[in-house]
Amino acid sequence: MLLTDKRLLLVGGKGGVGKTTISAAMALLASSRGKKVLLVSTDPAHSLSDAFARSVGDSITRLAPNLDALELDPDREVEQHLARVSAQLKRFTRPEMFNEIERQMRLTRQSPGAQEAAMLERMANVIELGLTDYDIVIFDTAPTGHTLRLLSLPEAMAAWTQGLLNANKRSEKLGEVLGHLTPKSGRDLANPLADPAEHAPAGMDERNKAITETLLARQRLFQRTREVLTDAQQSALLFVLTPEKLPILETGRAVQSLVQEKLPLAGLVVNRILPANADGNFLAARRTQEQVHLTQIAEDFASLRRYKIPLQATDIEGITALQQIAGLLEESGL
Ligand SMILES: Nc1ncnc2c1ncn2[C@@H]1O[C@H](COP(=O)(O)OP(=O)(O)O)[C@@H](O)[C@H]1O
Ligand SMILES: [Mg+2]
Repeated sequence: MLLTDKRLLLVGGKGGVGKTTISAAMALLASSRGKKVLLVSTDPAHSLSDAFARSVGDSITRLAPNLDALELDPDREVEQHLARVSAQLKRFTRPEMFNEIERQMRLTRQSPGAQEAAMLERMANVIELGLTDYDIVIFDTAPTGHTLRLLSLPEAMAAWTQGLLNANKRSEKLGEVLGHLTPKSGRDLANPLADPAEHAPAGMDERNKAITETLLARQRLFQRTREVLTDAQQSALLFVLTPEKLPILETGRAVQSLVQEKLPLAGLVVNRILPANADGNFLAARRTQEQVHLTQIAEDFASLRRYKIPLQATDIEGITALQQIAGLLEESGL
């Protein structure tokens, strides 16, 4: 029912378990059923390009009839986000402050929250566009609990408020501007704009009014995004995992934190299960495929020393199993 009923699917899971592969396959399936699909990756490695063996990138690219794709690049998002913030702040401040704004933006670029805040804004815009122009939007990443909390807290305004605090040091009105963005105590944190009248920037001078309105627009966008993400009618979260211990543990933790944030969890994709017919022929085929890749590795990394470790029959867990791998490393020449 997921591909029929939902508008927004998010595919989570540990690195390498098959998120991109499964998201891409789901997108193809939905498009083959006549849905207009937007497939989005937020992975700095160009994983959709790799999976479809063609370049996608940061503009909407048609991959199949009814299937468009988009690759968001976190570094690029930060640059563009800071450029937007800085342009807006300059509109609202005296030219003497421009150097200070530039300096502030350079500092913000290095702050740990900058990438997340920038990525959130872009994802929020992509979700709005996707829900307008497409039947279904599939993200090959799921937000973390932390990301979701950012959507309803003023911390996501990092670049903005930092820039404002510095550019507007002398304005005692600044407290008033920021006050409009912070939910009053006792109010629903997840819904800071529940009472629009409380936030109306009335009685401010033109400049502070403009700043407040820009920030409020961003906050409202985030709030709409959070509403969509947590709406079980429209959205669903799927986790991909492999039948191995660490992916199971990590999925357990992620599921718990996202359920706490009220994200509608719809199911698991258990990938890379050994098929029932995995006999000698299967192994021979796997070995042929592996040989192709081993040759590739030898060619691509000819100048690097390579240490080879064979696949083990069981998960590697505990000191004894790790000691066995240590022995294999030693045999391989390490
Ligand atoms: N069921 C499967 N059988 C064989 N290979 C798979 C399967 N699922 C994924 N892969 C391969 O595993 C690798 C990692 O998958 P990917 O979808 O990129 O993972 P993620 O996006 O979670 O990092 C890719 O090379 C992909 O082709
Ligand atoms: Mg991926």
